[in-house]
Amino acid sequence: MGLFSVPGLLTCLLLQVVWSLPSPETTEIDLDGGIDQDIFDINEALGLDLFEGDIKLPVDRNSIIGDNYRWPHVIPYVLENSLEMNAKGVILKAFEQYRLKTCIDFKPWEGEKNYISVFKGSGCWSSVGNLQMGLQQLSIGANCDRIGTVQHEFLHALGFWHEQSRSDRDDYVTIVWDRIQSGKEHNFNKYDDNRSDFLNVPYDYNSVMHYSKTAFKNGTDPTIITNIPDFIDVIGQRMDFSEYDLKKLNRLYNCTSSLSFMDTCSFELENICGMIQSSDDNSDWQRLSQVPAGPNTDHTNMGECKDSGYFMHFDTSAGGEGSTAVLESRFLYPKRGFQCLQFYLYNSGNENDRLNVWVREYTSANPNGTLRFIKEIEGSPETYWQLHHVSLNVTSKFRVVFQGVRGSGLSSGGLSIDDINLSETQCPHHVWHIRNFTHLLNTSPAGKKGIIYSPPFYSSEGYAFQVSLYVNGTADNPFNLGIYLSLISGANDDHLKWPCPWQQVTMILLDQHPDIRQQMSNQRSVTTDPGRLSESSSNYTWDRPDKVGSEATFPNGTKYMRGPGVGTSAFLTHERLRSRNFIKEDGVYILLTMEDISHLLSTQPSIPPPLVTTASATTTTKAGPGPTAATRPPSGTEITTTTASTTTASTTTASTTTATTTASTTGTTNQPGDPEVPAFCPDNPCENDGVCVMVNRAPVCRCPAGDNWWYMGEKCERKGSTHENTVIAVSSTITVFVVMLIVTITTAVCLKKKYKQGKENKESVTLEETKTSF
Ligand SMILES: *[C@@H]1O[C@H](CO)[C@@H](O)[C@H](O)[C@H]1NC(C)=O
Ligand SMILES: *[C@@H]1O[C@H](CO)[C@@H](O)[C@H](O)[C@H]1NC(C)=O
Ligand SMILES: *[C@@H]1O[C@H](CO)[C@@H](O)[C@H](O)[C@H]1NC(C)=O
Ligand SMILES: *[C@@H]1O[C@H](CO)[C@@H](O)[C@H](O)[C@H]1NC(C)=O
Ligand SMILES: *[C@@H]1O[C@H](CO)[C@@H](O)[C@H](O)[C@H]1NC(C)=O
Ligand SMILES: *[C@@H]1O[C@H](CO)[C@@H](O)[C@H](O)[C@H]1NC(C)=O
Ligand SMILES: *[C@@H]1O[C@H](CO)[C@@H](O)[C@H](O)[C@H]1NC(C)=O
Ligand SMILES: *[C@@H]1O[C@H](CO)[C@@H](O)[C@H](O)[C@H]1NC(C)=O
Ligand SMILES: *[C@@H]1O[C@H](CO)[C@@H](O)[C@H](O)[C@H]1NC(C)=O
Ligand SMILES: *[C@@H]1O[C@H](CO)[C@@H](O)[C@H](O)[C@H]1NC(C)=O
Ligand SMILES: [Zn+2]
Repeated sequence: MGLFSVPGLLTCLLLQVVWSLPSPETTEIDLDGGIDQDIFDINEALGLDLFEGDIKLPVDRNSIIGDNYRWPHVIPYVLENSLEMNAKGVILKAFEQYRLKTCIDFKPWEGEKNYISVFKGSGCWSSVGNLQMGLQQLSIGANCDRIGTVQHEFLHALGFWHEQSRSDRDDYVTIVWDRIQSGKEHNFNKYDDNRSDFLNVPYDYNSVMHYSKTAFKNGTDPTIITNIPDFIDVIGQRMDFSEYDLKKLNRLYNCTSSLSFMDTCSFELENICGMIQSSDDNSDWQRLSQVPAGPNTDHTNMGECKDSGYFMHFDTSAGGEGSTAVLESRFLYPKRGFQCLQFYLYNSGNENDRLNVWVREYTSANPNGTLRFIKEIEGSPETYWQLHHVSLNVTSKFRVVFQGVRGSGLSSGGLSIDDINLSETQCPHHVWHIRNFTHLLNTSPAGKKGIIYSPPFYSSEGYAFQVSLYVNGTADNPFNLGIYLSLISGANDDHLKWPCPWQQVTMILLDQHPDIRQQMSNQRSVTTDPGRLSESSSNYTWDRPDKVGSEATFPNGTKYMRGPGVGTSAFLTHERLRSRNFIKEDGVYILLTMEDISHLLSTQPSIPPPLVTTASATTTTKAGPGPTAATRPPSGTEITTTTASTTTASTTTASTTTATTTASTTGTTNQPGDPEVPAFCPDNPCENDGVCVMVNRAPVCRCPAGDNWWYMGEKCERKGSTHENTVIAVSSTITVFVVMLIVTITTAVCLKKKYKQGKENKESVTLEETKTSF
């Protein structure tokens, strides 16, 4: 992102060298006290006595076998205001994992009969299956804001019990009953085949639904011992769905495809995934397993498998300057309008050799396709595979086109590509590739001496940040990876809002498994709450780094200021780190995204829930005449209600919009007296694609929003401009809510928030664009 000039940064840094006084070392704040608390530890510490630790049972227990316990393929949800901001962002990311790996999709509730109300209760819990009760609660409480935890609770809601409660579990694990706290033994019940069905999938130590070895222990010894000893530290993972979790979910819900996954190719098969060599070039890509100048192995298997391990290679040692080779993918059909293309590239040629990425788009106006240039990838030759991400925004049938171009200068090798993935997701914004990682692991002491720092990165808003990684954990938590986010002084600090408001940073340690659907990456998110105070003083944690930070030095000697670090000392244990494909070719990848989530501050566009949300509330809901989603096709691609405009919001998670109705903000929230689920209006009085819902028997319009505009007025008859919206972007929660409330009351109907102008291409998939893709 060439947005911010290096000279600007330098000037800024030099000034600081002059002015800054010696200050204390960077402080670090652990989000969860530095303890890797599993769901059950969190709930236990809160004194909850839920069934199996995190399951809320209905009054009459039922088996989950039976289709009436299934949810429709598109699950309506409400993110309640009680949720922490970081939790809201993490929940939306968990939904993206469902969209990538299963056919389950989620949409903001619009009056469907049954829906999930996600709120901040005490602890993390859910009911099992769709209890057909109207509002069904799912709690994401304090410290539950981790993607694996959210995935786990939603798997309960979708109908799954814990893995170790299978009827055949005694063949695979041994429960050590006398190490379990007395009175907690019922948490280790088994279910017979009448209550749960394991869908013909083997017992899965890797399941995100499995207890960890320490669940409900009294003392220090494990309560669950795996009959295959290698799995003792595997059980209890909360990283991502396992392969079998997905198989079961996809079987239960008859999934055949997912919403956002498009294609993957590792070139292992001779049909090269249906890719084609173009005829209008003067060279070809070759399918090879090694090249003398490198690579000596493919990336998929790293040469470990005999007679396999292929990649595509464009030889630049022959041919003249400017000769090209073009490789095109098969036809692809986008659904969401934004894509992330990921692949590994190995350059053993010359630094002037280039790889261009294009798309060939087919529309009714251009049935033969038109080429659109996307990105040029250059770089000097290296002796390893490098991961690349390219954001696309295609809305019509297309092919991805890889064009190798021979540059000037001598070459003894060429360009190689392998392990391509294409999905309709957002690309990470930054990649931190750490090489020679085993060496680091074997030599890093615990504590501050074992920290490595990422290069500085800029968010699209202009904030500079850095990640610090404790390779061997903190002094009191060794044999772990610890990871912390810090804001650092940067070139734009004078023009930014401080304390930094509501930027969510997601730090992902990439599982480099060859199929993106089977990757189980480990991730944590941190959100900058502008009201957060540092422990020791009255300073704001996320204030300007040159105000609250301490001095630090880049490897090249340039000094800068680093703010406090916020993260966890228990990011991933070394045992898990060495499992799976986190370390590949002796390198690890940390993917970083910083995104503005302040749009999640406002109330989700929804009709107020019929009952007050407390953990003990028993919900009774009369079935309204509103449409249920139960009859929708399982493809998950089409989400239809009265109009297409607001439903697109559900598929573009990163740009979920807010539409606030007067009724929902001004307080029917606390009126338990109206349990009726509102219906859609008989006639739609709303203009400009507004959606009409009945609230208190009166029609209310909810209006669509685009990139720089939104609609307002009783019938969505007026268009709001960029200018009008500046009031919303203020820096504290309270102010935001007060302003929102005032604006909402005065405009009396619909308010839509727009997005900042000039966002990066990858973030700027507007609702308009998405809409055209349906
Ligand atoms: C834990 O173990 C100790 C010693 O065996 C026992 O006295 C105590 O009652 C146990 N606590 C629970 C909650 O089971
Ligand atoms: C399972 O259900 C069948 C039929 O309803 C019944 O005959 C059987 O006894 C049940 N098995 C168990 C273990 O409850
Ligand atoms: C899956 O397919 C089976 C068999 O066709 C059907 O009985 C069941 O209702 C389907 N389940 C869902 C969730 O669609
Ligand atoms: C598309 O290609 C076909 C065959 O090459 C050609 O006959 C036709 O004119 C082309 N159409 C357009 C719109 O270029
Ligand atoms: C990695 O280690 C090798 C030797 O083991 C060394 O030559 C190389 O410079 C190291 N690379 C980096 C980036 O530290
Ligand atoms: C990591 O930290 C632990 C605890 O301090 C120590 O025993 C171990 O030797 C350290 N590892 C390395 C490679 O230094
Ligand atoms: C994409 O898919 C390929 C092959 O299916 C896999 O090897 C690779 O690791 C994936 N790439 C990324 C960045 O996820
Ligand atoms: C708090 O801010 C003041 C200046 O505003 C600074 O001098 C002091 O060092 C800060 N305290 C900490 C702990 O960062
Ligand atoms: C030193 O490194 C930092 C961070 O990589 C960079 O921003 C800065 O421009 C570099 N300074 C010099 C003088 O190269
Ligand atoms: C995709 O993004 C580019 C650059 O931001 C823009 O010019 C183009 O119009 C967009 N294409 C579509 C189909 O939205
Ligand atoms: Zn659970």
